[in-house]
Amino acid sequence: MSNQPSAVNDSPNQPSLEEQVETLKRRLAEAQKFTALGELMSSTTHEFNNVLTSVINYAQMGLRHKDEATRNRCFEKIMAAGERAAKITTGVLGMARNRSDRREATDLAPLVKDAVMLLEREMQKYRVELEVQIEETPPALAIGNQIQQVLLNLMINARQAMPRGGRLVVRLWYEAEERCVSLMVRDSGTGIPAEQLPRIFDPFFSTKSGPDESGKGGTGLGLATCRDIIEAHEGKIRVQSTVGVGTAFTIRLPAVNPIVPAPVIKPAVGVTPTTAT
Ligand SMILES: Nc1ncnc2c1ncn2[C@@H]1O[C@H](COP(=O)(O)OP(=O)(O)OP(=O)(O)O)[C@@H](O)[C@H]1O
Ligand SMILES: [Mg+2]
Repeated sequence: MSNQPSAVNDSPNQPSLEEQVETLKRRLAEAQKFTALGELMSSTTHEFNNVLTSVINYAQMGLRHKDEATRNRCFEKIMAAGERAAKITTGVLGMARNRSDRREATDLAPLVKDAVMLLEREMQKYRVELEVQIEETPPALAIGNQIQQVLLNLMINARQAMPRGGRLVVRLWYEAEERCVSLMVRDSGTGIPAEQLPRIFDPFFSTKSGPDESGKGGTGLGLATCRDIIEAHEGKIRVQSTVGVGTAFTIRLPAVNPIVPAPVIKPAVGVTPTTAT
């Protein structure tokens, strides 16, 4: 028997090449999901550590200073840190709970807020100013945790494109004419050279030499997964980029029950309501 791979599928029991490609794609998507979760875990653990440091420091300060004003201030700080810790766990638990693999009417606003909350400290650390614009939208037909995975991938890419800091805008809005819920992630980073643009969604295309100091990036699967997820949602993902100015990724997802202005109902003239006897 030859060891050469054969392009012809001659055994009826062997999966066809298309089936093999499909299986590999599914495995790749699974692998990327774990990478995204792993990245999230490291951000969250780091965040938690920051919160605990605050709690410990302010508790020590309160023990040292007996005056009421200082103690009150310490309690307030401890309280704020505790609330932040609760928010972080709620965000992560929400993501873990949201494991449905069916598309359903999903309100994207809380999902965007959670993703922003989980990454806001990391953005601060890299001197990235974060602007979040959330408008009222109808629900989108979506698998929530997959859209969150897309958003985290795009936000991490954006942060990595701004090594000396910059501005990141995350915007959620409704496009009534197209009946879609749109999500944009725009950075003021390096931009993508025109000759690379057609390749950025290819699996394993990466210009990064490996994971950065926060352990993120470099496999080249992020955008390939984003595109697969959005296509499976019958949505669209689009990129606009200018070298030296920045990059914007826009996702469009089909909306459920678009907001339509309620019709003004006037009582019919000349019709007397009748009662059945
Ligand atoms: N916001 C952005 N600004 C500039 N270049 C970008 C941006 N997003 C993606 N790119 C380019 O597209 C390439 C592919 O991105 P992708 O997310 O698929 O892979 P990656 O970030 O290199 O690795 P990972 O799979 O770990 O995310 C990046 O290496 C980078 O060159
Ligand atoms: Mg990436």
